[in-house]
Amino acid sequence: RGKVKLIYIDPPFDSGADYVRKVNLRGTASAKLDGEDYSLGEQVQYTDIWANDNYLQFMYERFILLKELLSKDGSIFVHCDNRKMHHLRCLLEEVFGADSFRNEIVWIHQIMGGAHDKRFPKAHETIFWFAADEIKLQSQDSNVRVPFGEYVKNTMQQDDDGRWYYERRRMSRKATTEEAASKAHTRTYVDDPSKGTVATDVWGNMLSYQETSDEREGLDLYPTQKTTRLLTRIISAASTTGDIVLDCFMGSGVVAKVAQQLGRRWIGCDINKGAIQTTAKRLQTIIKEQIATTANDRQTSLIEDDEHTPVKPAQLSFSVWRVNDYDLHIQHNEAVELVAEHLGIQRIKSEGFFDGTRGKYWVKIIPFNHPLTPLDLDSIRSELSNRPSEERDVQVVTLGMELAAKAWVEQHNRNRPINRFHVIELRTDKKYGGIIKHEPAFADVSVSRGTRHGEACLIVEIVDVVSPSIVQRLNLDTSLFRAQIPEWRAVVDCVLIDTAYDGEVFNICLSDVPERKQDLCQGRYELPAPPLGSRVAVKIIDMLGEEIVVVSQI
Ligand SMILES: C[S@@+](CC[C@H](N)C(=O)[O-])C[C@H]1O[C@@H](n2cnc3c(N)ncnc32)[C@H](O)[C@@H]1O
Repeated sequence: RGKVKLIYIDPPFDSGADYVRKVNLRGTASAKLDGEDYSLGEQVQYTDIWANDNYLQFMYERFILLKELLSKDGSIFVHCDNRKMHHLRCLLEEVFGADSFRNEIVWIHQIMGGAHDKRFPKAHETIFWFAADEIKLQSQDSNVRVPFGEYVKNTMQQDDDGRWYYERRRMSRKATTEEAASKAHTRTYVDDPSKGTVATDVWGNMLSYQETSDEREGLDLYPTQKTTRLLTRIISAASTTGDIVLDCFMGSGVVAKVAQQLGRRWIGCDINKGAIQTTAKRLQTIIKEQIATTANDRQTSLIEDDEHTPVKPAQLSFSVWRVNDYDLHIQHNEAVELVAEHLGIQRIKSEGFFDGTRGKYWVKIIPFNHPLTPLDLDSIRSELSNRPSEERDVQVVTLGMELAAKAWVEQHNRNRPINRFHVIELRTDKKYGGIIKHEPAFADVSVSRGTRHGEACLIVEIVDVVSPSIVQRLNLDTSLFRAQIPEWRAVVDCVLIDTAYDGEVFNICLSDVPERKQDLCQGRYELPAPPLGSRVAVKIIDMLGEEIVVVSQI
């Protein structure tokens, strides 16, 4: 709370679309089974389809939470487009205060398709910047500056004292006598013309969604991925080294990547496992380079652009926290059947809204892809208001619930309503929660001491990795054959090793992140031997982003 210096969010835009991606096992030979494609299927990255005003409610609740996290001298940048920008600006003014409004930045990304005979083609998106009064634009940072325009460049000259200036064409008002005498009405002095000037609020010289292959860094382009240059300018403009940058809709992790490169600390969140996986991969690659360059004392290559001042990374590791199960691969109807069986719910065929009864309660099962929200509860209450003679209480079954939903239920029940609400939160419920079992992935890893060129070394060898989630996902896709994975490396995305693990922060000493999709990790590693008694942690991340950490003491 109150510690984040900069928030950038690029939330769903209410675009009315589903975004999907494909996941494949590593390696080419192992990726096929009797002509069956060993694809893990299309994973829905995220859904951006909303009913009524749910979208704005969703954003409003998040703005309130984000304000809690933002430091008193912090900034928030909200990326949106013409669909909801006017509403979002109102919400931002409501939560952060109209006085905190700084800029409406127009990012010209590219010309998107569209009905050219009906309207002008769309070519920009909007970023709102709200900030506390204390925040200064880091106007001297080269990432927020642009070269002078042609007119200015052409009129740039030095006065008798050697100071650089350019001529302005005219003033909008008549110059005072002093201004006219000093020529201040037509001249602007510049410290160093080579440093250009501060960018305006229209950003047109940045790559669009279709980025170049080097920007893709061997990763599939994430739907709606933003560009490195865009984020470099934002993070440079409103934070300094060591500050915490947060993106709670991080997608492919461009914010985390740029923050890492600019020596900021960062926090990223996403509801979609694919996003976490893409981000983790991106960051592992960057940290690997940073470790190598730090070790070689070649700090200048720590950031991409050699023109900029080298920045030391604020940290050389990160960890992934899984806080819910909303990515559970389950259809709603399937979930209803499972829950009905598990809780002994009486299904009623003629009933259109509730999922059945349990004892004297009506039961409503909330889809497993999201936590219970006040909107879900509102819709149940509104249904009950259409049934004035209904006196039964309601049991709401959900995977998890938002804090606001908890408060909603408490408030509702406090008013002594005819229909009270009772919630079963399966994710945490000791009695009924057993329905959700996550079978974790596991690995057989051997860690031993050996010798290399006469010197003691540490040998880490991965013998086997089994990922029940991947096997299950493959079984869903290959209806005729039971999935067989002949090579454990096919399910492994990358391997990271920390030879002095303190049990809390994983510091990467070695990372094996195969570059191309068809490449496999090595599986056997020789490292300089750490002192006896050290704890060696081996982190293996599978192709669905699940982490296995095996710790051994030597
Ligand atoms: C427009 S994309 C962000 C793209 C990102 N800026 C990039 O450059 O890759 C929006 C992201 O928000 C995530 N998202 C949607 N609803 C969410 C929620 N309730 N909590 C966290 N993340 C969510 C989606 O999974 C998606 O990755």
